Order: sequence, then structure tokens, then C-alpha cells
Amino acid sequence: MPDTLTIIDNRTGKRYEVPILYGTYPTYGAAIRGADLRQIRVSEDDFGLMSYDPAFLNTASTKSSITFIDGDRGILRYRGYDIAELAEKSTFLEVAYLLLHGELPTIDQLEDWTCWIKRHAFIHENVKKFMDGFRYDAHPMGILVSTVAALSTFYPESKNVLDPAVRRKQAYRLIAKLPTIAAFSYRHRMGFPYTYPAEDLGFTGNFLKMMFERPGRTYEPHPVLTRALDVIFLLHADHEQNCSANAMRSVGSSHPDPYVAVAAAAAALYGPLHGGANEQVLRMLHDIGSIDRVPDYIRRVKAGELRLMGFGHRVYKNYDPRARVLKEMAGQVLEITGSTPLLRIALELERIALEDDYFISRKLYPNVDFYSGIICQALGFPTDMFPVLFAIPRVAGWLAQWQEMLEDPEQRIARPRQVYTGPDLREYVPIEDRS
Ligand code: ACO
Repeated sequence: MPDTLTIIDNRTGKRYEVPILYGTYPTYGAAIRGADLRQIRVSEDDFGLMSYDPAFLNTASTKSSITFIDGDRGILRYRGYDIAELAEKSTFLEVAYLLLHGELPTIDQLEDWTCWIKRHAFIHENVKKFMDGFRYDAHPMGILVSTVAALSTFYPESKNVLDPAVRRKQAYRLIAKLPTIAAFSYRHRMGFPYTYPAEDLGFTGNFLKMMFERPGRTYEPHPVLTRALDVIFLLHADHEQNCSANAMRSVGSSHPDPYVAVAAAAAALYGPLHGGANEQVLRMLHDIGSIDRVPDYIRRVKAGELRLMGFGHRVYKNYDPRARVLKEMAGQVLEITGSTPLLRIALELERIALEDDYFISRKLYPNVDFYSGIICQALGFPTDMFPVLFAIPRVAGWLAQWQEMLEDPEQRIARPRQVYTGPDLREYVPIEDRS
């Protein structure tokens, strides 16, 4: 069977044969080259056929070997490793290494990687002063986006994006400094003095300390809570060509330094349709308030009055594998931090929804946000820090996507086409003659 597609243009009766590329049917996604459609014309001066695909619903913008998702079967893999196995056996820093290098690190490689990340966790004192300039009630995500962009001015050599050694150094810096900037943005609002990075703690324990250490008191991160946050980081490290990864690639394709490209990706993440859903889940659980009000809430969802937040996904038409891990983890965390009715409400919502034909027929299952907000709140994070908690690990994914884009000889500056729908050439009317 030839790997080609035959297209007949009914406008002209002409027949075209275009190759089917890359994917292995059905799992890894077969594609035709969009540019192959350009040969389909009605006349010599015709521009040629394009594919029209707002929001990239069915357009592969790249080949990628980083993350694999099969939404129908509820599969998520980083570099071929199943997410549930990584969540059970690995750490966030190991997974960040995996995303960027393609392989899990050896003991020596992990030691070296961890050492470099720790070394770069400090931020220049000028950056601290810069952060001091934000208003006391500035949203931490706004502070993060602006401060990461400002790092561009501190590391001018980072503009040399085609040099792998330069890229490596910026990866250390970005992965290491994001927790510091995130924690400082929180402490700035609280009016607490900044807590500097501690080299004797791991990546996530150090972040918790920078966040929550009170002046005059020593802070020991709880191992189970630290592990829970580390797993949340690991689960959020990449998710293939989502809105923010696409922003990273698109902005990065004009070869600016990675700080401004990461700021653009973080800005994409800031939007409530991307990084803000777990906050909405918490609001919903608070609104419901008690288990006996769950059936009425479900009734309103089915009547189209409301959406069940944390349910449904553009890609997953099955249980989001990340939600499965977080559901179990929520129980463990609440055993330590103290129970909250929110988890019981969430479990009841899930139980009823998964038995209801409305949700079954539409393939609506819990997504990653259904349980992550409960855990983050139990860990002590205010809701406006949730997108920041998402950005900290996702920078590893953004950098891996950026690096892959820069090394791909087929990639060039990202520049989509359009279907023009405006007026044809018009005669210019002088201002005094306009009605
Ligand atoms: N509650 C109730 N009904 C829903 C929900 C929901 N959460 N999600 C989808 N539906 C229904 C829609 O009303 C529609 O029903 P219809 O066919 O009768 O009109 C059907 O299911 C298909 O929904 P779409 O909106 O077409 O699905 P889409 O893929 O465009 O949306 C989305 C996906 C945005 C995630 C949606 O499921 C949603 O709004 N969920 C709640 C918000 C949420 O949890 N977002 C986080 C996603 S995970 C992340 O971004 C990290």
C-alpha cells in the first residue's frame, strides 16, 4: 500500500498524489506536508491551496521526540517513559534532565546537573531591587513574567542561541532561578524579607523554604509534602505542543534570547484557559460547600448552566494520567496537613460524574487540575501562586521544545499564512470628501 494521498480537485478535475509523512498509523500521527497543497491551483497565477486551521486543531507545527500523548487511551510519556512510573520513581530534576537531554541521567550526571542548578539559584541583587519596585499587591505571575524578561538584560551572551554551550548555561539559570523569583514575588507581597536559596536542600525543599520560612525561625521542609510538590512539578514539566510551548517555539524562532522567549511562554500560561483552571476548581468546590449539594451542582452542569471545572480536556478523552497520580497524592497530603471538606466534595463529584451518561457520552474525565489545586492549597500556597507553580517546572519543557526547534533544520521563523477576507483594492478618499 503506497504511503500517499490522492487528491482530486473538482474545480479543475486534476489529480494530485502527495506523500504521507513521518507517523506510524495510528499512534504517532501521520501527516501530509502543508506546502504540498500549494501545487493545487486553478490557474498559473493562483497562489495555490492552503489548509485553514484556526487554533491549530489539526496541524502539526513540528516533529518532536520529547513528549507523547494519546488522549483517547489516557497516555502521557516523556521521552518514552510512562508518566506514572516517572512520578513513582523519579524526581523533578531528573525529569528536567530527561526532557533536555533525551535520556535519564546516570548518578554522576545527576550530581553534576543538580550542582549546576543549585549554583545558579541566586539572582543578582539588582534583580531583587527591580522586584522591589512592584506594588505590594502585584500578581505574582505578572512579577514572574516581567522579571524573567528582565534577566535578558543581565546575560547579553544568551543571545547566541545557536551555541549549545551558551544554551546549556541559560537552561541552568532559568530552571534554577524560577523558584527564587517565584518565592521572592510571594514574599514581596507578604512584606517578608527574602530568604536566599539554601544549597543544602534539594530543588523543591529549597523552594518551600524560600517561600515559607518565617523571619527568626528555622524551616524544615516536610519530606512527604516536599515529595508531593516535587511530583506536581514532575507532572507539569511538559505537555507537548500546548499554548505556552507553542509560544516558546514561535517567539524563539526569531532567535531572541531564551529569557524573553520564556517570558512570552509564561505569559501564555498566565491565561485562565491554560494555567488558571485549578484555581477555578477550588472556587467551584468552595461554592458547592458540602457533599449534599453535589447532586444539585451536577444537575446545573447538565442543564448547561455551569461547567464542571477540572473535567474534560481537548486532548484527553479518558482519565488524565496525571489526575490519577494526584488523586492518590491528595489523600496523602491531607493526612499531614489536616483534612478539608474540599477533597470529599471532589471525590463525590467525580463518583457521580463518572456514572452519569452526560459525562460518559462526552468522554469527560478529571483532568490534571481537578486535584492539583486541593494539594497546592493544603501546602499553603495562595491561589494566585498556582500558575507560578505551574511555570516553575514547565520551564524545563519550554527549554526542551526551544532547543529541539533550534536544532531542527526544517524549522524557520514561524510565520503562518492567512485567508484574507478584507476589501479588494479601493480608491483612496481624501479626508474632506469622507462622509
Ligand atoms: N463540564 C460540563 N460539560 C463539559 C465540560 C465540563 N467541564 N467540558 C466539556 N463539556 C461538554 C461541552 O458542553 C460539550 O457538550 P455539547 O457537545 O453538548 O455541546 C462537550 O462536552 C464538548 O466540549 P468542548 O467544549 O467542545 O470541548 P473542548 O475540547 O473544546 O474543551 C476544555 C476542553 C476547555 C478543557 C473543557 O472541557 C472545559 O472547559 N473544562 C473545564 C475547564 C478545565 O478544567 N480546564 C483545564 C484543562 S487542563 C489544562 O489546561 C492544564
